[in-house]
Amino acid sequence: MNNLTYQIRQLCEQKHAVIMAHYYTLPEIQEVADFIGDSLALAQKAKTIEADIIVLCGVHFMGETAKIICPDKKVLVPDLNAGCSLADSCEAKALSQLKAQHPNALVISYINTTAAVKALTDIVVTSSNAEKIVKQIPTEQEIIFGPDRNLGAYINKVTGRKMILWEGCCQVHNSIQPEQIEELKQQYPHAIVLAHPECNGTVLEKADVIGSTAALLNFAKSHDYEQYIVVTESGIMHELQKHCPDKQFIPVGAICKDMQLSTLDKLYNCLLTEQPEIQVDAEIAAKARQSIDKMLSMS
Ligand code: 13P
Ligand code: SF4
Repeated sequence: MNNLTYQIRQLCEQKHAVIMAHYYTLPEIQEVADFIGDSLALAQKAKTIEADIIVLCGVHFMGETAKIICPDKKVLVPDLNAGCSLADSCEAKALSQLKAQHPNALVISYINTTAAVKALTDIVVTSSNAEKIVKQIPTEQEIIFGPDRNLGAYINKVTGRKMILWEGCCQVHNSIQPEQIEELKQQYPHAIVLAHPECNGTVLEKADVIGSTAALLNFAKSHDYEQYIVVTESGIMHELQKHCPDKQFIPVGAICKDMQLSTLDKLYNCLLTEQPEIQVDAEIAAKARQSIDKMLSMS
């Protein structure tokens, strides 16, 4: 354990703080964290966690989600500038306008959204549970699904629904091109292609396995294939290689710069100063909590 990591752990103990991190964060952040997971696991963990302080290493909406779930806890993030292009692609005002055009529609939103968008949402989903939750909604019920059009189109395809899709996307996943997968498949013809559903449909067509970060990890851990082409953000490589040291993982090379803003230095300072802290307007948080709780009860 290096000195900074040791000091971070010391501060956690002194302050009764818990560090939670997403699989896309830097390897050293994943190593120092108490808990790492996909977006669903982070939300589920927040629900049961015993601590005075939660430090969320990931992007802003993840900290906000933890604060909504745990209003009485102090929720800190190492860098307030860690945003998400997908969450940015849907503003609450524009979603209200779409809702007004479809007054009977149920609104299902991906967890990669602001608290204000969650407050306008009936059910939040993640890529781990979107299919399962949509399948629980009666087929005649009209649904607005946002903001990720790629995940929405994928769910429409596997469920046969015709949900109204918001035109948003994750710039990191959406910029992956099918030609990149083709090239890697030619170099590694026996490799299994693991892809995240935030990728474009033309990329997903080339995948053997489509799933959330946790689902992709579980697939690699529980199967005997030796090579995998990894079509999602490269931070996941750390956990893949840690759990499957004898397997070969070939990343497509997608980097989320926002996820990399959580560094050990910033994490240490954040624990020391208890800043920056996430705050969510109480009225918005109360509404957003209902759509998150709905997700947790349907997962
Ligand atoms: P999951 O970890 O839920 O698959 O989400 C991926 C992602 O892009 C998080 O921002
Ligand atoms: Fe947002 Fe995409 Fe980064 Fe995930 S990978 S945090 S969806 S920009």
